[in-house]
Amino acid sequence: MSAEQDRAALRALLDRSRLTEPPYERQGYLDVLGEDDHQPSTLAQLAMRSGVVASIYQHGWRQGLNVAMGVGGLSAEQERRYALRCLELSGADRVLDVACGPGNFSHVFAEALTGDGLVVGLDNSRQMLARAVTDNLVPRLAYLRADARAMPFPDGSFDAVCCYAALYLAPEPFTILVEMLRVLAPGGRIALMTSYRGSWQPQRFARGLAGHASGIRMFERDDLTGILRASGLTDIHQEIRGIAQFVNARKPGQRG
Ligand SMILES: C[S@@+](CC[C@H](N)C(=O)[O-])C[C@H]1O[C@@H](n2cnc3c(N)ncnc32)[C@H](O)[C@@H]1O
Repeated sequence: MSAEQDRAALRALLDRSRLTEPPYERQGYLDVLGEDDHQPSTLAQLAMRSGVVASIYQHGWRQGLNVAMGVGGLSAEQERRYALRCLELSGADRVLDVACGPGNFSHVFAEALTGDGLVVGLDNSRQMLARAVTDNLVPRLAYLRADARAMPFPDGSFDAVCCYAALYLAPEPFTILVEMLRVLAPGGRIALMTSYRGSWQPQRFARGLAGHASGIRMFERDDLTGILRASGLTDIHQEIRGIAQFVNARKPGQRG
């Protein structure tokens, strides 16, 4: 499939009634936010709008982040393979990579698909998406500039939804999580990676302080799993590694 065909397949997935702007072709990706570019309010969000950070993100910044978060021993490649396993992708699945950054996970998911399979890499940063198109555009992958808090897809559009290293940056992470669950199809898999505040009081205090200074939200152990459980998801699995938590689960129902 050509990149044009993949973008056409992405267009076909969009729910026009949820769009405020018509989809616009911009430098190899679709944009439904137009000129809307909310101003970052924290250091961490500002970094995601920097062309310099976007250019070093995949080869340097992301691995540094894992070291800083104490994810310990998990290389970037191993982390991508871990996400791939959690999502249980097969053949012609539709996959959504929420807050995909420069597409460092999206392309691995697309390479696991066959036939009419499609990965949508969604992000709201033009700088990250420009990098994604340059570095990580492979068949069965299309990028979309959209806001993860209000995703332009009908309910149940995706067989698998992933969101790594982003919920802690977003001002409304729980709105994003609820949106991810809405667009996930019955029987589909969700995989998340975000921060963890810890349980030991001095550690919680230090992480809270560091998070506050950088604009990174520190999640409690049950913040994500609690929402998944309350939403009826099954097979909920959580792994804590340093300041990070990896969570995956399945939406009840039969896969179509
Ligand atoms: C650190 S990158 C994560 C990239 C990749 N998922 C990874 O694990 O390395 C976080 C991304 O979240 C995006 N982001 C934050 N808030 C968002 C929102 N509301 N909608 C879409 N993208 C958002 C940022 O633009 C940034 O590219």
